[in-house]
Amino acid sequence: MGVTVLVVDADPRSAGDWKSLLSHQGYDVVVAGTGEEALALCNSQRPDLVLLYDVLPDMHGLEVCRRIKSDPGNRLTPIILHAAAADFSNAMSAIDAGAADFWGHAPTPWEALSRLHSLLQLKTYIDEQAESVLLSLAQSIEARDPFDGSHCTRVSNNAVRFGKSLGLSRNDLEALRVAGLFHDIGKIGIPESILSKAGPLDRDESKIVMEHPIVGEQICAPLKSLRHALPLIRHHHERLDGSGYPDGLSGEQIPLTVRVLQIVDICDALTSDRSYRQNMPLPSALMVLYEEADRGWLDGDLVSQFASLVVGSAGSITLGSRRALASAEIAKLSAGNPARRLSRSRV
Ligand SMILES: [Fe+2]
Repeated sequence: MGVTVLVVDADPRSAGDWKSLLSHQGYDVVVAGTGEEALALCNSQRPDLVLLYDVLPDMHGLEVCRRIKSDPGNRLTPIILHAAAADFSNAMSAIDAGAADFWGHAPTPWEALSRLHSLLQLKTYIDEQAESVLLSLAQSIEARDPFDGSHCTRVSNNAVRFGKSLGLSRNDLEALRVAGLFHDIGKIGIPESILSKAGPLDRDESKIVMEHPIVGEQICAPLKSLRHALPLIRHHHERLDGSGYPDGLSGEQIPLTVRVLQIVDICDALTSDRSYRQNMPLPSALMVLYEEADRGWLDGDLVSQFASLVVGSAGSITLGSRRALASAEIAKLSAGNPARRLSRSRV
């Protein structure tokens, strides 16, 4: 993944000089001439570093700095505030606004690059540390539920295998790997009494559970390495007919990678022991997937391809508690005519 620097400079000549200098160093450079443009680019491009002049036509650089840092997705993004006047109060205001560095004079190219490299190195280190902390967090969430085992690790591995069998791109496979590990990290906000409740959830409890995709997206948003997985984390409980959550997306609005992850996630959950039910045999789990496809929740073609993959001997993948499949049942499932007797209560 390339390193992107956003230069916010109202002077096109000066912005062009920065672009030339930084592009020469191998950085991807995007340029904004106003504060509003900078805020929009931060939202769409998620730069790794922002070089921000304080004098802009529409708002002061300090205000831009504050607004960029107020977005959780940019919390770890270093901002260099380059001020026209170098007094102590300007430097203090820059730090208060969240800037990582303050330039009160025009630096030489060598000085500028050296300070910029240092900040980017620090950001890479923080990203790596934060990712390993989040991984520990995700694992600790699984450990809270004695029935969940290594659900996320299996979902990650199996989503990648399913994605490979579909010929997905390397970027998509990486998004599946990451999302498999982190898709349920938002469950950190769910009380243990709800997570391990044996019976059905009441309305308020369901509402709390349904917040976990958004909480998960917010937790992972600041890390660039997790960025491609954010849509999968947010949307892994959407349904094709629009009845899912949190955004009620439907049809093509739900990316292919999300549909792949959903099928693997549901199948693994069904074949694992949970506090509210025992694991199902694989044939029954596949029937539930077909049933949900018939209801318009899951992608039916993908369910068929997944069934072929998990029942095939060479390409079979390990699920929560896989049991042997009778060949007659496999044939029945592959024909897409499952018995309608099971439905998913909770995943
Ligand atoms: Fe989930």
